[in-house]
Amino acid sequence: MADSAPRLTTAFGNPVSDNQNSLTAGSRGPVLMQDYHLIEKMAHFNRERIPERVVHAKGYGAYGTFRLTKSLADYTRAKVLTEVGKAVPMVARFSTVGGESGSADTARDPRGFALKFYTDEGNWDLVGNNTPIFFVRDAIKFSDFIRTQKRDPRTHLKPHWRRWDFWSLSPEAIHQVMFLYSDRGTPKSARFMNGYGSHTFSFWNERGERHWVKFHFHTKQGIENFSAADADEIAGKDPDYSSADLHGAIERGEFPKWRVSVQLMPELDADTYPINPFDLTKVWPHADYPLIEIGEMELNRNPENYFAEIEQSAFEPSNVVPGIGFSPDKMLQNRILSYADAHRYRLGVNYHQIPVNQARNAQVQTYHRDGAMRTDGNHGAQVDYEPNSFGGPVQDPSFQEPPLRLKGDAARYGWPGDDADLYGQPREFWTKVLDDGGRKRLVENVVTSMGDSPRHIQERMIAHWYKVHQDFGRGVAAGLGIEPAKAAAE
Ligand code: NDP
Ligand code: HEM
Repeated sequence: MADSAPRLTTAFGNPVSDNQNSLTAGSRGPVLMQDYHLIEKMAHFNRERIPERVVHAKGYGAYGTFRLTKSLADYTRAKVLTEVGKAVPMVARFSTVGGESGSADTARDPRGFALKFYTDEGNWDLVGNNTPIFFVRDAIKFSDFIRTQKRDPRTHLKPHWRRWDFWSLSPEAIHQVMFLYSDRGTPKSARFMNGYGSHTFSFWNERGERHWVKFHFHTKQGIENFSAADADEIAGKDPDYSSADLHGAIERGEFPKWRVSVQLMPELDADTYPINPFDLTKVWPHADYPLIEIGEMELNRNPENYFAEIEQSAFEPSNVVPGIGFSPDKMLQNRILSYADAHRYRLGVNYHQIPVNQARNAQVQTYHRDGAMRTDGNHGAQVDYEPNSFGGPVQDPSFQEPPLRLKGDAARYGWPGDDADLYGQPREFWTKVLDDGGRKRLVENVVTSMGDSPRHIQERMIAHWYKVHQDFGRGVAAGLGIEPAKAAAE
């Protein structure tokens, strides 16, 4: 043993005398069961994998800071959004959605943009994407949608007709589908993409007033995307391209930054604004609710250990701090439940003790006890029920959120509902946001992806493209060799 090398031990600290040769009966003999080091080594290896995330399995991340430049004290009491200049530590994880943990970073897919801010008032998580909208607007459709992005139950392959079948029957998806098949569907890496909280959240202030809010993170590196051909090629040559890009930049001291902004809507506007502000398939037009710049996020430290700090990171939209609340968004409401539920399954009931998930800047005082892999002191001798007369933690009514105004009769409000305009914003995207080149590439990417779909699915989908814009419908129909009139008539 070299003098300077640390001594190898078992998991319980017993020195290991030989890590190269099993304990055998004779040099050619069988292995003895008493080689407890060998057995521990093999047994631990067999248990090294935990379930991958059911979605967003492939990802990478880093630590950083958020610095507020403009106080939002008029709107929220959250310290993280009122203490100007304070560096709030945070961690970010970026991901693709549909692929397995080893899949290619450059796949055409939305990118997860998950943030955890370790504030003095507890952890605040914003678990968004690189798009401000989503494919469905009711969580009851989420698992069906995700299945279309995953493997076929019979063949274990990923034919694209499954997604086009679903989307053509779920037209609320077309806005996000257009984003996905546009240039921004294949970002180079997290450094070169925007992030969005996507949902409408709410702010409430000391006076009990509520505003609706959307969060935007604009890359200061500029938007950079791969062409469809380059993304495909890199997926084969360097599937971890984007993970390496962020890691390398931070190692070189090139810390990526994002400009952080909000859109704010007075509470009562929601009753009269023509767009349902809680519909996740729609944006709030900038002209109606302009962006207000509030700060900067910088990533400046790579994790020391990927599994411990990124694979075991657990983000959950239910982590909010006083002054930030939810909204009636049907998707958000379900996500408040789904994430903690998923973490309890993937990481175990005490996942909040894993260092990356700990509320490192706020004291944690709960009556939760025990559970598998409890690794802290389990609150020692402190009383474990409430109410009690022994000084246990008590609620603090000063953190009471003002009532969330809700109205309506309990029912299942389906399509067509009060969000009937499915084509207006997609049309804006086609006509106003994309230039000629962007429109051409969107058509090409859609045509390539729809190629394996049965004709009836192609025709049903093209009918939606026609409703977005004649040129879009015509372009896809021509690319797939379909008679334009027939497709439009669907
Ligand atoms: P604006 O003209 O004010 O906004 C258009 C926005 O589109 C830009 O600010 C930019 O958002 C985004 N954008 C620009 N180029 C692309 C591209 N190639 N691919 C995807 N997004 C791009 O108009 P509106 O606010 O009225 O929105 C018009 C349409 O723009 C919407 O219907 C929606 O389809 C799309 N959009 C709107 C966003 C919003 O929050 N209002 C955000 C993103 C897209 P950013 O600065 O966030 O990159
Ligand atoms: C991950 C559920 C919609 C962004 C996950 C995970 C689940 C889930 C179960 C895996 C969590 C884990 O094991 O760690 C849902 C449900 C949704 C929904 C039920 C709809 C009702 C959305 C939307 C967005 C989003 C709309 C973005 C706006 C993410 C991100 C991750 C994720 C970024 C990865 C977080 C990480 O990096 O660990 N989602 N999701 N999801 N989801 Fe969703």
